[in-house]
Amino acid sequence: MDTVKIGLIGAGNWGRNHATGYTRAPNAELVAVADTDRTRAEELAKDFRIPNAYGDIDTLLADESVEAVSIVIPNAFHAETAIRAMETGKAVMLDKPFALSLTDAERVVEKARELGITFMMGMNQRFARDTQILKEHITAGLVGEVYHAKAYWLRRSGVPRVGTWFTQKELSGGGPMIDLGVHLLDVCLYLMDNFDPVSVTAATYNQLAPQLQKVREAGATYNVEDFATAMIRMRNGATVQLEASWLLHQEQGNRQNVELYGTKAGAYLYPVRLHREAASGYEHIELQSPRELPFSHCSRYQHFADVLQGKAEQLVSWEQSLAVQRILDAVYQSAREDREIAF
Ligand SMILES: NC(=O)c1ccc[n+]([C@@H]2O[C@H](COP(=O)([O-])OP(=O)(O)OC[C@H]3O[C@@H](n4cnc5c(N)ncnc54)[C@H](O)[C@@H]3O)[C@@H](O)[C@H]2O)c1
Repeated sequence: MDTVKIGLIGAGNWGRNHATGYTRAPNAELVAVADTDRTRAEELAKDFRIPNAYGDIDTLLADESVEAVSIVIPNAFHAETAIRAMETGKAVMLDKPFALSLTDAERVVEKARELGITFMMGMNQRFARDTQILKEHITAGLVGEVYHAKAYWLRRSGVPRVGTWFTQKELSGGGPMIDLGVHLLDVCLYLMDNFDPVSVTAATYNQLAPQLQKVREAGATYNVEDFATAMIRMRNGATVQLEASWLLHQEQGNRQNVELYGTKAGAYLYPVRLHREAASGYEHIELQSPRELPFSHCSRYQHFADVLQGKAEQLVSWEQSLAVQRILDAVYQSAREDREIAF
């Protein structure tokens, strides 16, 4: 089978997930990896038998064997790296979040449009089995019109590596909202088939993080929120309540779901279930796929290669990713300025 030759940019924690994903995709082949920490790039290259490991991005971008890149580095470098890659003619799949600001995200899309190069946000949850099954049922009309949704990812105690780029606003763009909220927001709007927000009202908190010993030790390097809540109004009148935490006093260690409330039924994503009135009484149905799933591989990596080989239409569109970034920007602006942000 013909393979797309991939260069991996970023050999950190999640870079290994990308490497595993491309290794499993039959139509992709990892030919190079780069990380500013050369040792990490070399270790990952050894573990995944990747022929070339580089200590800087430019050398990877100059490598003519690389057709496309997968970017998985700290958020602050996403936009600039995607633009540089496209300028050298490489197609790009970028891990979330898109950028630190809508302006930066728009620059990326402008560059992709100008050069006619494939650029895609690699939103992994879109390809999950549950998402695909629920999407099929929603498209078939089982939920009716979705007028409200709740999307949340709430960790009781799950700050990722205090003191690293994750907890520094200049490098991450924010805390759990941009780190976790972005996933649930994207998949929620995708399931609603509605990427048309008109306003956002939000609040962010940093109540619990300062109490952590490791945060006190890290001092000024924890300057993001530990919990965020937002109400998003859509143009058609629908509303979305979005919440994300790294720290929150709650019963479970982790709560994560998209709950859709429609005119015919309610639907939850994890696990994928329908709640509705039936002749025999109120019923709760575990949904199964009505037919073969559209992305039976459940892999954003294989999908990216499929797109580059002309076998699939890009699932995550530029407009959708810009809408998600617009909302995230507005969440932080609303919280900062203590007011509703209308678009
Ligand atoms: N889709 C998901 O579910 C998911 C999960 C985890 C992380 N992520 C995203 O992946 C990205 C990386 O997260 P991580 O957990 O792997 O972080 P990490 O800190 O473990 O790894 C980041 C790597 O990037 C390298 N690096 C830093 N700046 C660089 C640059 N300018 N050029 C090249 N390499 C550079 C670092 O040396 C490090 O090896 C983040 O954007 C994060 O949001 C996505």
